[in-house]
Amino acid sequence: MEIGIIYKKEKIAIKNKGMVWVDIIKLSSKDFPHLKKFVLKNYMQIKDKNHFIIDDIDTELPFLLKENEGLVFGIKINGELVAIQAINFNKNDRLNFCKLIDNYNRRDSIMEIGWAMVDKYYQGNGFSIKLMRYLEKEAFQKTQNEICLATVHPHNINSLFVFFKAGYVGYKILQYYGKERIFLLKNVNHEIYIDYHTTVSASNNNFHLPTLPFFQDYVCFNIQKERHEYKFLFAKAINNPTLEHNTN
Ligand SMILES: CC(C)(COP(=O)(O)OP(=O)(O)OC[C@H]1O[C@@H](n2cnc3c(N)ncnc32)[C@H](O)[C@@H]1OP(=O)(O)O)[C@@H](O)C(=O)NCCC(=O)NCCS
Repeated sequence: MEIGIIYKKEKIAIKNKGMVWVDIIKLSSKDFPHLKKFVLKNYMQIKDKNHFIIDDIDTELPFLLKENEGLVFGIKINGELVAIQAINFNKNDRLNFCKLIDNYNRRDSIMEIGWAMVDKYYQGNGFSIKLMRYLEKEAFQKTQNEICLATVHPHNINSLFVFFKAGYVGYKILQYYGKERIFLLKNVNHEIYIDYHTTVSASNNNFHLPTLPFFQDYVCFNIQKERHEYKFLFAKAINNPTLEHNTN
């Protein structure tokens, strides 16, 4: 059985392959077995299992495939699924996010983006950011929610790169499902402006997490690779999403 329905066809540049036609697809409940197989297969390839929460694969993924709870998009090449990503706009889940982000006042409008997974062979081609943008757009059109939340392990550098490129900022480190996570936010309709004059950097070496700036209202907006270590760049945001007044 074919997986998903075609949302868009695109010709894109892929490393070592040149220009290739890909199908951006939307998945539905009937696709769950195929989707689960894809996630499990690629999960086996992840070196640090702390980077990816798989515990709720049988509960959350089928739920997100339901029309009114979330959206799951994928990329297919020659009929084969090579990337997926999901967004959750369920109201009850939103209440749970709110408990985590207690000082945040746009609770009514929040959705969570997650389940980003790209086949190892195709990583580094910008697939994740592509899916993220389609998901954000579709989810906003459907729900009018404009705040996206993502949670990423502080050492999952590739994933953090993607979110920073997509305009997210990290504003907190918290335990989530018993694991350390940077919480990132984006308003899909308004760019978050960073005051670069206030930039400070914090090293992520020796597994000491750069937590301090988070407690001083700095947001984390990028990572810089320096020799063998990564530096997290923090700055004050001109329109810090966690300090904004609720305009609704
Ligand atoms: C995180 C993930 C979804 C990113 O997807 P992606 O489509 O490969 O993302 P990108 O193509 O934008 O690559 C992101 C960064 O990863 C790096 N990268 C990943 N694979 C690479 C490769 N094969 N060659 C070179 N760079 C690579 C690059 O530094 C790139 O940043 P850059 O474009 O600024 O150089 C993917 O790495 C993945 O599936 N990881 C395992 C599951 C996971 O951790 N999911 C996220 C949980 S929060």
